[in-house]
Amino acid sequence: MKILGISAHYHDSAAALVVDGVPVCAVQEERLSRRKNDATFPAAAIEWCLDRAGIEPAALDAVVFYERSMLKLDRILTSSLRAFPRSWRSFPNAIKNSLGEKVWVRGIISSYLGVPRSRILFTDHHMAHAAAAFFTAPTRRAAILTADGVGEWATLTVGRAERRDDGTADVTLMREIRFPHSLGMLYSTFTAYLGFAVNEDEYKVMGLAAYGRPTMTDRVRRLIRRTPDGGFALAPEYFEYQTTASRSYSSKFVDLFGPARQAYDPIDLETDEGKRFADCAASVQRVLEDTLVDIARGLHEETGLTDLCFGGGVALNGVANARILAESGFERVFVPPAPGDAGCALGAALYADRIYFHNEDRDVPDHPFWGPPVDAAELARAAREDGHDVDELDETTLIERTADDLAAGRIVGWMDGASEFGPRALGHRSILAAPHSRAMRDRLNRDIKYREEFRPFAPVTTCEAADRYFEMPSGGARLARFMSGVFAVRPEWQAELAAVTHVDGSARLQALEHDMAPRLHRLLEAYGRRSGIPVLLNTSFNVAGEPIVNRAAEGYSTFRRCGIDVLIAERTVVRKHASPPARPLKERVT
Ligand SMILES: [Fe+2]
Repeated sequence: MKILGISAHYHDSAAALVVDGVPVCAVQEERLSRRKNDATFPAAAIEWCLDRAGIEPAALDAVVFYERSMLKLDRILTSSLRAFPRSWRSFPNAIKNSLGEKVWVRGIISSYLGVPRSRILFTDHHMAHAAAAFFTAPTRRAAILTADGVGEWATLTVGRAERRDDGTADVTLMREIRFPHSLGMLYSTFTAYLGFAVNEDEYKVMGLAAYGRPTMTDRVRRLIRRTPDGGFALAPEYFEYQTTASRSYSSKFVDLFGPARQAYDPIDLETDEGKRFADCAASVQRVLEDTLVDIARGLHEETGLTDLCFGGGVALNGVANARILAESGFERVFVPPAPGDAGCALGAALYADRIYFHNEDRDVPDHPFWGPPVDAAELARAAREDGHDVDELDETTLIERTADDLAAGRIVGWMDGASEFGPRALGHRSILAAPHSRAMRDRLNRDIKYREEFRPFAPVTTCEAADRYFEMPSGGARLARFMSGVFAVRPEWQAELAAVTHVDGSARLQALEHDMAPRLHRLLEAYGRRSGIPVLLNTSFNVAGEPIVNRAAEGYSTFRRCGIDVLIAERTVVRKHASPPARPLKERVT
């Protein structure tokens, strides 16, 4: 059976194809359209998925959309009417957005693909999050937690799921918290207040939090009240997102926390104002963590299960995830590589396959590489035309030379096989560098990523070596498989890992198992033979404001525009003429 899953019209549109119960491909629209967080109907992603699998639209058994559009319209209308007349300004926009595209999804899909309307299905949004987390995880029985900004009405759900030996499967969402009460919206409100882009820059709040102290948690707790049933409710007077799309926090919120930061004002952590913003971030981060840990602990006690599958955009918060693992009682926590709305395309397709059509349960390969492959010949052609040095190397030479380059302080653009599905570079579209010095961090921020200096870089290491350098609770390596947890760097290694150690001594680690990305694993070992430390700095292969590179041409274009010294696609290596001279490692360890 061939099932296409689609997510669209909110943020991060995507398409995913499941054939006979197993994903074949999945890609976010932004990787193809090259518009970051592209939320339009994912025409290019759908076309690529069908092309890749050699399937005509008419051969699809079902097309599944990741939410129920009418329910979402119901929520928008109801919220607007409740707030009338305050909401009258946003009302026409909400209606236009909803009626323009969101509601008539069945018609749009049917006319675009030419499939009969009867083959177009819809899942509940949080069920798609739950299915994306559960059916891609190597577990047969797990508790389910989903949390995001909002779907139709639900913003957080708890449940349980099972894959049985007779090939059947079941996902039950037992309870939900409904809009406007939302952990995702609480965090996004602070994201907006701190001058960052909502639905995009929440991770910057988490990064900034490490510079602050949670001195304002009492004030944040005035915004969110725990309810006797184990849930929570937000105090509506501090928020405006429920009534208008133009501002998410109210004047009462500003009275409580002080003036908001303007988007283009620099954050100077030496000033009282800068410290206040960092303390704000630390405080909302702490309250988010405490609330999630508490809900997860209650879910563990209620279900008695050892595994938790956690989905939804809030599951991108690696600090919270690590605390859930350490404190909730669950032994294993599974966060999929694409826990946000893009991942719902895959979740919706898997849900339809296992639950709606009752197809036999199948294991899903445990990796994130479902996107377009890189074409090394395309890179070689373009680079030669421009007069660059291009080498085609055998595997061993390539790995050894690349390790030499990294040890000599060169920055490497690394493209390997199919691109990652989800927001993180997990070894197939990465910029790699030596992780030892602050100078390297600053160089990456200045010459390549063009971004705020409070943002940390992430380390990647082998599963075998992870414990030596990072303090992980039992089950930490699983959370670190897709870079979903933030853990402490062992104190004795922090100076040697200065480029990837955040100001609070933590790191968002990827612990790489050999079979998931064998070439990067070999490179880490080769680098370890040179430096004594098999750890590399791994950041997504893009510059600020652009999606992660997808094809070789985009990698090459990025390489030409920024300070990457060496570009690798499969076994093709391109060098800039002006690579910096090699310097011994010890000089750079500061
Ligand atoms: Fe969502």
